[in-house]
Amino acid sequence: MSEEQGSPPQAGKSPRESYTVLAESMMPDQLNHHGNVFGGVILALVDKCGGVVARRHARLPVVTVSIDRVEFKEPVYANDFVEAHGRIAYVGRTSMDVLVEVTAEQVETGVRRQTNRCFLTYVALDTLNGRPAPVPPLLLETDEERLEWDAAEERQAYRLSQRKRRQKHT
Ligand SMILES: CC(C)(COP(=O)(O)OP(=O)(O)OC[C@H]1O[C@@H](n2cnc3c(N)ncnc32)[C@H](O)[C@@H]1OP(=O)(O)O)[C@@H](O)C(=O)NCCC(=O)NCCS
Repeated sequence: MSEEQGSPPQAGKSPRESYTVLAESMMPDQLNHHGNVFGGVILALVDKCGGVVARRHARLPVVTVSIDRVEFKEPVYANDFVEAHGRIAYVGRTSMDVLVEVTAEQVETGVRRQTNRCFLTYVALDTLNGRPAPVPPLLLETDEERLEWDAAEERQAYRLSQRKRRQKHT
């Protein structure tokens, strides 16, 4: 019996069910030469947060297959309290598109700034053979989620066209 034939249809899940906040207080060993937080630290937090979102949706192990253009809009300072907020925007058959937004809070004043926003794509893996595995459909509940879905669908089509182009040239 094939993996597809063997799996019963999955119940849909809403973005609320996998919404994730990952928070970290920045430490001196995470700073760059300017005394601000090293970009790689923020990227690691973003990927960890997005990975939890995808695992919560799929309830399977996942791998990161793509990270879209990441903009560092503002620096994150030493001593900031950083939060990554992740929510799922789109699902394909085995892939999931996750939006992660990062905020930095100066704890003493309570001032919060959004410093980063990026989209990551994860693929769920079958626990037996490690191959891409189907994920539950996404139940969209709000107009904002429906808009995010449409935008994510376009982004995924663009990524896949780029992938095809790369494959053609290798
Ligand atoms: C992710 C991986 C298993 C996909 O394998 P594959 O042989 O390309 O599998 P498929 O062609 O069946 O693609 C699986 C899904 O990934 C999507 N995908 C593949 N490459 C992609 C890319 N560059 N960008 C976005 N999505 C991509 C496909 O569209 C498909 O999604 P769908 O099922 O929702 O339509 C494989 O590329 C891999 O192992 N990559 C390394 C992941 C990794 O090590 N990450 C870093 C550490 S976690």
